[in-house]
Amino acid sequence: MASDPNIRAHKARLQDAQDIFNLVNSLSGDGTLLRRSYAEICENIRDFTVVQRATPDGEVTFLGCGALHLYGPHLAEIRSIVVKPEYRGLGAGDELLEALMQEAEEHTVTSVCLFTRIPEYFAHLGFRVADRDAMPDKIYKDCQTCPRLYACDEVAMVRGPLPNISVLGPRTIQRPELVQINAVAHELTGTR
Ligand SMILES: CC(C)(COP(=O)(O)OP(=O)(O)OC[C@H]1O[C@@H](n2cnc3c(N)ncnc32)[C@H](O)[C@@H]1OP(=O)(O)O)[C@@H](O)C(=O)NCCC(=O)NCCS
Repeated sequence: MASDPNIRAHKARLQDAQDIFNLVNSLSGDGTLLRRSYAEICENIRDFTVVQRATPDGEVTFLGCGALHLYGPHLAEIRSIVVKPEYRGLGAGDELLEALMQEAEEHTVTSVCLFTRIPEYFAHLGFRVADRDAMPDKIYKDCQTCPRLYACDEVAMVRGPLPNISVLGPRTIQRPELVQINAVAHELTGTR
């Protein structure tokens, strides 16, 4: 929790999209964050949480944002987490992370993953380093189209158990213990 009680996390509104767009893309040039288009941010605005400082006289300052992407009941991903440089170190980052983890809990998703260059920050919030192949949904959603696919310097981390199902990607996969929901659905409906 932030030491300043005026710093609070809230679900984002469409009115926050421009601030989110500016901040996220200010850190996408060096690969710290994935670039997100304005349209993509608007479309996914309900994934986002913003952290703000609201003074008693009603002045509200946007400090940062983060998003929780739901793959399904088996996995969620924390993305686009960033606090403006001038407001770092005030607890805003932790406030955001706590709100996003709480949101995952509300959806009863226990496996939450993220990819990062600063694993030490997320370790203090209970995330542990994991094998990226253990999160095939993330690989198929982002990594396969990423220009850094073969030069990725991000560390995969997870909080909670590793997912044991996948909903994206090819129908035949290497790990027999992984149940592929689409394939199962097609088998059940005979629509393969
Ligand atoms: C990571 C980030 C969101 C943290 O935000 P913040 O508001 O400064 O974080 P907090 O003030 O809540 O810090 C909480 C704790 O984490 C520590 N911490 C902050 N940034 C850290 C970092 N980069 N590495 C390790 N520890 C870090 C703080 O020292 C603090 O520790 P303490 O509680 O023992 O004092 C912020 O530094 C940022 O926007 N970084 C650039 C974007 C980025 O890298 N995002 C992650 C992409 S996966």
